[in-house]
Amino acid sequence: MTERIFFSRSEDDTRELGRRIGENLCEGLCVLLYGDLGAGKTVLVRGVGEALGISGVRSPSFTLINEYESGSGLLVIHADLYRLGENDAGSLGLEEYEDSALFVEWPERWRNPPVEDVMRVYFSAVSESEREVRILAVGERAEGVLMKL
Ligand SMILES: Nc1ncnc2c1ncn2[C@@H]1O[C@H](COP(=O)(O)OP(=O)(O)OP(=O)(O)O)[C@@H](O)[C@H]1O
Ligand SMILES: [Mg+2]
Repeated sequence: MTERIFFSRSEDDTRELGRRIGENLCEGLCVLLYGDLGAGKTVLVRGVGEALGISGVRSPSFTLINEYESGSGLLVIHADLYRLGENDAGSLGLEEYEDSALFVEWPERWRNPPVEDVMRVYFSAVSESEREVRILAVGERAEGVLMKL
């Protein structure tokens, strides 16, 4: 396991952190995004998209899952489980996206998230515009990405 703590002073900082994740992204990586409403989870994924030539990442709070394809053919899945009850999470079938790069908001609702090649990203609001972003990575691929940020 590898842990790093980042500090974001603005929405742009968080997008930039997302861009760096996007630049180093590989298939099979699962990124679990923890934090309150408005913490910056979707902003981070928007940055990931920007690095991959995917513009206009929108919150999947209503669609639950948004699928994007990068210029190089990597499938990027962005899910938001907020509206799911704890017992429905299995039915979304997120387990089947193991060859994609997967970003999941409100992963507390997911009963069996992967345990290998996972990055857990914890946002906490320090002030209206500042966030502490703590990232824990488990597995060779995930730790490799984290070390390059
Ligand atoms: N340092 C920061 N990083 C990210 N967003 C910030 C920051 N400071 C202020 N913000 C604002 O916080 C909001 C973050 O919104 P975002 O949609 O990313 O939240 P979220 O964590 O996805 O919430 P939800 O659980 O509702 O989906 C935006 O309005 C953004 O402008
Ligand atoms: Mg969101």
